[in-house]
Amino acid sequence: MSVTSFTVTPGKRTVPVTALPADITLPVPAEITDDELAEIGTILSRWRSINMSAYKDKCMKRRIAIHMRATRCLDAAEYCNLLRQSPQELDQLQKTLTIHVSQFFRNPSMFVKLRDDVLPGLFSTCEKNGAGKVRFWCLGCAGGEEPFSLAILLREHFSRELRKVQTIIHGTDIDAETIRAAQQAEYIEERLKEVPADLKDRYFRQNGTRFRLVPELRQMVTFLQGDITRTTEFVPSDLVVCRNTLIYFTRPDQEKILHGVADILPAGGILVLGKSETLTGDVRRRFESICPVERIYRRI
Ligand SMILES: C[S@@+](CC[C@H](N)C(=O)[O-])C[C@H]1O[C@@H](n2cnc3c(N)ncnc32)[C@H](O)[C@@H]1O
Repeated sequence: MSVTSFTVTPGKRTVPVTALPADITLPVPAEITDDELAEIGTILSRWRSINMSAYKDKCMKRRIAIHMRATRCLDAAEYCNLLRQSPQELDQLQKTLTIHVSQFFRNPSMFVKLRDDVLPGLFSTCEKNGAGKVRFWCLGCAGGEEPFSLAILLREHFSRELRKVQTIIHGTDIDAETIRAAQQAEYIEERLKEVPADLKDRYFRQNGTRFRLVPELRQMVTFLQGDITRTTEFVPSDLVVCRNTLIYFTRPDQEKILHGVADILPAGGILVLGKSETLTGDVRRRFESICPVERIYRRI
């Protein structure tokens, strides 16, 4: 996204968009220009403290266009006016721009790899060096499915280690409502489709059409609101999971975020990326790949 130089002309189109009759067929809104995108970014940054300039322009424009059509705005200027007047539309847009889709044990083979080849080493290093704790951090954790999957994995396969070593799991996401949902830990069945039946019985309680995680598991994860682009706020960790979030950012911002992660991992610390993500640029020299298929890297 380029720097902001665009000014909306108030009064250019004075009809409140929400007042347009639903049966009027409107022309397809014009393409969003870079300046218009910058203006929308300025509004989001002012009212929601989100730094949209780090996200990929094409992706953002596509999603904003969907909102312009849904709100029956004819052009970006009208949509900017709507955003200024409607906190609800700001919330809706923020939600769309920061997609929250996740599931328990998403890409199950990655969790198998962690269980068999990564976590045993992490715990034994911790026991050997007397650190007394292992810290996990899921960045862009959506509704908590990912950190809770880790918690289930630890409960199921590392109970001896959990008794000896303090385990800290943090989940952070930029979206406050998503974080509140994660704290509730109640899910539609769709989110649990990769959870084996015995684990579902053991760790979830059905309440109508929803499934709530049992309190012992809920207590294992602390959720906080946090912006992945604010690398100075990153928390020291031994294993960082950052899957399917980097993909929305420009390459320079991906690199900046990954340097931030490298800064808080100790030598031997682990980074897990999403299946379609990879280390970019100079930050590659700070990691070695330990499983290219599952995108698991070790801090050098
Ligand atoms: C597609 S979800 C990925 C969820 C999970 N990591 C997974 O792979 O299933 C992307 C998440 O990144 C979050 N996100 C987007 N921009 C962010 C930012 N700047 N800082 C922190 N989280 C962000 C979104 O709110 C969303 O919950």
